[in-house]
Amino acid sequence: NNNGYSCWLQYDLLGQAAREAAVEWAQDIVLTEAAEQGPLKTAVDELTAGMAAMLGKRPAIVPAPVTGRRYILLGTVGGSAHVARLIGGGETSAFGEESYRIKTVCEPDREAIVLAGGSGKGLLYAVFHFLRLIVTGADLGSLDVTEQPKYGLRMINHWDNMDGSIERGYAGRSFLYADGRVLSGSPRIRDYARLMASIGINGIAINNVNVHRQETMLLTEQLLPDVAAIADAFREYGIRLFLSANYASPVELGETATADPLDAEVAAWWQRAAERVYRHIPDFGGFVVKADSENRPGPFTYGRDHADGANMLAAALKPYGGLVLWRCFVYNCQQDWRDRTTDRARAAYDHFKPLDGRFMDNVVLQIKNGPMDFQVREPVSPLFGAMERTNQIMEFQITQEYTGHQIDVCYLVPQWKQVLEFDTLVKGEGSKVKDIAAGRVHPYSHCGITAVTNVGDDDNWTGHHLAQANLFGYGRLIWNPELSAEQIAAEWVRLTFGDNSEVASAVTDILMESWPAYEKYTSPLGVGWMVRPHLHYGVDVDGYEYSKWGTYHFADRDGVGVDRTVATGTGYAGQYVGANAERYERTSSCPDELLLFFHHVPYTYRLQSGKTVIQHIYDTHFEGVEQVEQWIVRWRSLEGKLDAERFRHIGERLARQLDNAKEWRDVVNTYFYRKSGIPDQGKRVIFV
Ligand code: GCU
Repeated sequence: NNNGYSCWLQYDLLGQAAREAAVEWAQDIVLTEAAEQGPLKTAVDELTAGMAAMLGKRPAIVPAPVTGRRYILLGTVGGSAHVARLIGGGETSAFGEESYRIKTVCEPDREAIVLAGGSGKGLLYAVFHFLRLIVTGADLGSLDVTEQPKYGLRMINHWDNMDGSIERGYAGRSFLYADGRVLSGSPRIRDYARLMASIGINGIAINNVNVHRQETMLLTEQLLPDVAAIADAFREYGIRLFLSANYASPVELGETATADPLDAEVAAWWQRAAERVYRHIPDFGGFVVKADSENRPGPFTYGRDHADGANMLAAALKPYGGLVLWRCFVYNCQQDWRDRTTDRARAAYDHFKPLDGRFMDNVVLQIKNGPMDFQVREPVSPLFGAMERTNQIMEFQITQEYTGHQIDVCYLVPQWKQVLEFDTLVKGEGSKVKDIAAGRVHPYSHCGITAVTNVGDDDNWTGHHLAQANLFGYGRLIWNPELSAEQIAAEWVRLTFGDNSEVASAVTDILMESWPAYEKYTSPLGVGWMVRPHLHYGVDVDGYEYSKWGTYHFADRDGVGVDRTVATGTGYAGQYVGANAERYERTSSCPDELLLFFHHVPYTYRLQSGKTVIQHIYDTHFEGVEQVEQWIVRWRSLEGKLDAERFRHIGERLARQLDNAKEWRDVVNTYFYRKSGIPDQGKRVIFV
C-alpha cells in the first residue's frame, strides 16, 4: 500500500530492467570538493540515499576514480577541475548558479557520468533530475542534458495560519503551525523542502497573505528563532524563506500610532524589523504584502498610494537584498450589485498601471493570472506586461479553491500553459506572458512565477492523490514552460505509479481530460462563479448575484453574461493591447470559452462552434457528467493493478466528484431552462 507521502520521490518503484542498467553505476561517487553543508552537501546525500534506495547498494564517496571502474562525478563548475576537464570549461562558462549539466563521458579506461552544477544548488537540481532519469529508465550510457531554469523566482505561497488552519486548504491542517506555535522542529518541514527542491522551487512564503495578529508576531524577536529554524531547513535545499507581512504591523503591535508610509517613525520601525529578520535569517527572501485588499490595511488609509507603501518596505529591505512582493489583488469588495459602472475585472489595471516607474527595483508586483480570482476560465490579466518599468511576478493557484477542492480531479497545468502562451502584444507580436515573466520582454530585474500551494498535513500532502500532479506540474512547468502538459503528466504518473502501462495511460488520460470536464459541468463560457458563497465548492448559480463581491453573471430571461466592451459595457476589453482588445470587443471574434466574460448575449446567440449558447450549456453539462462516469468505469478496471490504498482513495473521490458534477449539471441546466424556456434539443432530463 502507498500512502503517498513520498509523492514523486518513490525510489522503490524501479523496475527490474532499470535496476540492472543502473546498478553498474552505483559503486563510486567521486567528489573532489568540500561538501560540509548547504545544497552541495544535500546533493551528495540525496544522490547516495536515492541510489541506495533504488538499487539496494550504497555508493561510496571517493576523492578519485578507481581505474577501470565506472563512476559518477559530482561537482560544481567553478569548484572542481575534474568536472571542468570532463565537460569542458567553455561549455559552462555562462552557467548560472542554478544551471546544471548531466553527461555521460567515455574516457579511455572507464566511463563516467558527470553531474555538474553552477553551484551547490544547481548540483542539487542535477541530482534530482538524474534520479528521475534512473526511475524513468533513461539510457545512462548516453546522457547529455543541459538545464537552466527559465524563471529567477520560482515561488510557493502558503496560506497557512498560526492556529493551524489553512485558508483555502483542502489537504488537512498546516504542517508549519499548530495552536499558535510554529512547528519548527517537525521533521516534515525538511521532507517538504526536499519535495520542493526536487521540482526546482527556490522561494517559499510560509504564512497566509491575510496576516492577522498572531502572524504579525512572526516578525518579532519572540518568534523569529522559530522562523529561522524553518529557514535553516529550507536553506539546505536551496530555498529562501519569505514572510507575508501585515502592512500595519507596527500599529498592530502597538508600537506606532500610524502606518503612514511617509511617516519617518514608521519607516524606522520597518528598518529595525528588517535588521532583526536578517540577523536571524541572513538569506531572508522578503515580504509578500496584501495591502488595501479585501479589508486588509494599506496605504490608502493615509491618503497614500501603493508605490508609497511598497517603497517604504522596499527601502527597509534593500540593504539586505530583500524583495517586496506587492500583490495587485486590489478591488472594491463592498460593491453594490445595483452599480453597473464598477467592474472588478478592471480594478488591478486601473490601480497599478498609472504607477509604472514609481516602484523601487526591489519591488515586484504580484499579479493573479486572471483579472478576477482563479476561476476555471478567465482571460489573462491585462496588467501583466502592461508596466514596462515595474517588476512583475505571475501568481497561479495550485490549491483548488474554485476548481474542486481536491475532491474533484482537475489537472491545472494545461490552464497555466494557456496563460503562459498568451501573447499580450505589449511590445508587438511575440510578447508572451511566459517571456514577460522571465524579464525578456521588459528588462525586469526581479520576476518569475509564484503560486498558492495545495499542501497540508494529510499523509499524501494534497488530499487527493491526483492533486499531487498539480504541485509537481507547477514546479516542472515554471522550470521549463516549453514542456507540454501531457509530458509533465506522463512524467508524474511514471514517477508516482510506476511502469504499469494500463495504469499509466488511465491516470494520464484522466488528468488530461479533467480541466475540460470540470469546466463543462460548472459555470459556462467564462462567466465564472455560480459557486456556493464563501465555501466555493458546489453549485449555487445566484449565490453571488446580489452580493458585494463584484462577481455577477446577469442572467435574465433573454440572455446571460457581462458586457465588458468599450462600446457598451465597462470598457475592460480596452485594457488589452491592439488586436487582443479588438478580438475581445466583438462577439464575432471573441473566443467561445470567454464569450460570457466579455459579452451579455441572448441564449439563442450562435457560438463559433455553431451551437447556441443555451444548447452549449445543456450539452457541456451532460458531457461533463458523462466524462466523470467514464473515468469511474475505467478506474474500476484497474483493480489489482495498483496498490489497494490508492485504488480505494481515488475511487472514492471520483464517486464524490460524480455527485458534485450531477448536482452542477442539474442545477445549471434547470436554472437556464427556467430562465429561457428553451428546451434541450437532445430532449434529455432537465428538471423543470
Ligand atoms: C480569494 C480567496 C481568499 C484570499 C484571496 C487572496 O479571494 O477566496 O481566501 O484571501 O483570494 O488572494 O488574497
